[in-house]
Amino acid sequence: MKLIEPSLLSINKEKAFDQLKMVKAFKLPYVHYDVMDGKFVPPTALTTEYLKDLQMLGIKPNIHLMVANPDEWIEKYKDCNANSITFHAESQSIEESKVLLDKIRSYGMLAGFSVKPSTDLNQYKELLQHTDIILIMSVEPGWAGQGFIEKALDNLAIANEAKKAKHNLIIQIDGGINYEYIRKLYNQVDWFVTGSWFFKNIDHMGQYLDEFRKLN
Ligand code: DX5
Ligand code: ZN
Repeated sequence: MKLIEPSLLSINKEKAFDQLKMVKAFKLPYVHYDVMDGKFVPPTALTTEYLKDLQMLGIKPNIHLMVANPDEWIEKYKDCNANSITFHAESQSIEESKVLLDKIRSYGMLAGFSVKPSTDLNQYKELLQHTDIILIMSVEPGWAGQGFIEKALDNLAIANEAKKAKHNLIIQIDGGINYEYIRKLYNQVDWFVTGSWFFKNIDHMGQYLDEFRKLN
């Protein structure tokens, strides 16, 4: 099933609980939870904000670790009722990434890895056999509100090629996603992450979601 996954980086901090209640009312099961350590990417971002609210509302975070040392951060999030944890393949070797994927799964979550738009996913074909989720970044990680980088479509094609042999591979895309890209890429993506477009248009999201569900 295709899913829209709001990225909490762009939630309105003053109205956060109300906006999370709207996410719940839209029947969206997951939100996207961006963790930045100031090392893998220059900014720092979410650490524990909203996690209690999410538990109260029964919405699960999909955690996107943009960090230099994922192992340390996986431990921090193993008991926060997350649906999945995804880390960047660029942070360590392929063998180390395999160990991390197994560790996340051993904690009862789906496991994923991500690649930046400038990283060639062909390098990680072996890891695609080992992962539940591939998160294709379509902006440079670190900031919300950037424009979609078309080069990411090459990695999206590689992921879809891998999915032909591995039907349960979840293809997630993140960065610059808006109405037009959701419509354009609907058949190539399972989970669409959207931050600034989603929260800017949250008052009209019910209509948009009805439209997308008809595309299924
Ligand atoms: C960027 C983050 C994204 C970001 C997406 O580093 O990983 O999840 O929140 O924001 P938009 O949809 O505004 O590009
Ligand atoms: Zn993200």
